[in-house]
Amino acid sequence: MQHLLSVDDINEKFILDLWERASDQKDNFSSSLKNKILTNLFYEPSTRTSSSFYSAMVRQGGSVIPINNVKFSSAIKGESLEDTIITMGTMSDCIVLRHPEIGSVSRAAKVSSVPVINAGDGKGEHPTQTLLDGFTIFYNNKEKIDNLRITMVGDLKNGRTVKSLVKLLSRYSGNHFNFVSPPDLRLPKDLLPKNSFQTEKIEEVISDTDVLYVTRVQSERGSNHQYSLSLDQLNLLPRKSIVMHPLPRVNEIPRAFDNDPRAKYFDQMLYGLWCRMVLLENVMS
Ligand code: CP
Repeated sequence: MQHLLSVDDINEKFILDLWERASDQKDNFSSSLKNKILTNLFYEPSTRTSSSFYSAMVRQGGSVIPINNVKFSSAIKGESLEDTIITMGTMSDCIVLRHPEIGSVSRAAKVSSVPVINAGDGKGEHPTQTLLDGFTIFYNNKEKIDNLRITMVGDLKNGRTVKSLVKLLSRYSGNHFNFVSPPDLRLPKDLLPKNSFQTEKIEEVISDTDVLYVTRVQSERGSNHQYSLSLDQLNLLPRKSIVMHPLPRVNEIPRAFDNDPRAKYFDQMLYGLWCRMVLLENVMS
């Protein structure tokens, strides 16, 4: 049984194999997960991650128990996470868990009789988002994921997608990181890669960027900054760069940029479906 709790749980070979198979999923409707059942257990809101796992299961012939609002589950009566995991392990072959607390996924994995996939644990990690983020870079850069200039913007302190993606991209040689945020929303020091530069001013780095990764301020985790990139700022990006965002966005990127060929944030969702199809097949079949 293989849990996926952190990017640390997967090696480069696993990731490359998954990415190579992901683009074959474009028109794939198979029965490879027939008779398999996934539990989607979400203690925090989600549109993309929960629906993407749902769709990935159904497109491969599997079924889903959707617990997308724990208000309507026995969690509201005081049932512990551990008891809920044990319960759902008797009824399904894999559990996708999103929870507001760091470490919740490890607690779940300790008692689970089926694989647990972390769909976001508080300010911790979001490894399946990183699989699709990495794939977006790989797919749009002629299968190259090293020697890139990566600029990450926003709430780097609380955003879990940034933390997982930094871990992944740091493994590949020559990647240089620019982190743009107010001082109180900086990436935690223990996650800062050697090749990195921190600033509050995007103008210092935007024209020297291959991948711009924009994130939302996490108001649900106590952040109260507001920021948005202007079209003028985004147009300082090199022509061949790409702009990513895990979504949902609030005001960080103007809608007027959505049709720019550099904007990849809606493509990311489709890539997420493909990556999760391969992942679920690996985990369950
Ligand atoms: N990117 C992401 O995790 O989106 P959701 O919160 O909608 O799942």
